[in-house]
Amino acid sequence: MKITYLGHASLSIEAHGKVILVDPFITKNDLAKNIDSNTLEADYILITHAHFDHVADVEAIATRTGAIIISNYEIATYFGNKGFKGHPMNHGGTWKFDFGNIHMVNAIHTSSFEDGSYGGNPAGFVLETAHHRIYIAGDTALTYDMKLIPKVIGKLDLAILPIGDNFTMGLESAIIASDFVECDKVLGYHYDTFGYIEIDHKKAISKFARQHKELVLLDIGNYLKL
Ligand code: NI
Ligand code: MN
Repeated sequence: MKITYLGHASLSIEAHGKVILVDPFITKNDLAKNIDSNTLEADYILITHAHFDHVADVEAIATRTGAIIISNYEIATYFGNKGFKGHPMNHGGTWKFDFGNIHMVNAIHTSSFEDGSYGGNPAGFVLETAHHRIYIAGDTALTYDMKLIPKVIGKLDLAILPIGDNFTMGLESAIIASDFVECDKVLGYHYDTFGYIEIDHKKAISKFARQHKELVLLDIGNYLKL
């Protein structure tokens, strides 16, 4: 599995020969200028919630690639009504796709489209292939529900957690979240994009290291392989 960081909460995940794009927010992100959203591949677009900083590039990319949108019922229906292909899910559900399983899990946040349309409830996802299992938390607070993930779904190889604070949990909560999901390897996301969520990278990494955990912060465009 190859996970490329596209800035903010956007990821491109290659699994079993398929590309799963997560929460694409690229053209409106000044920090992601080196990413060309017109050339990004996508077989699927996975959306955690409807906020603009998670869906801004969905329509352009889905139009060009024909990607299938995987999200909650409301978001899949919103894009479905505009003619896009979607796969609706809801919390607690698992579906077997051609690249592996997606489990939809809880997130504590909000979810409305920029035009005020209802975006259902926000979610996280666990992506599970034959060899790896990763947790994509989405925008969320720390929640005890995270403890269910290793119990119900199984041992994680990587937890992708928001660390920017203000709109989501911050570093201290993310460290506790990594305890709750029983995974000491964390890829941080949802930081630096806006003034409210700027962080000191070195301090963040050393805070995790003091708890014997690894925090990976990728430069935009760089990737991690599992
Ligand atoms: Ni959000
Ligand atoms: Mn967000």
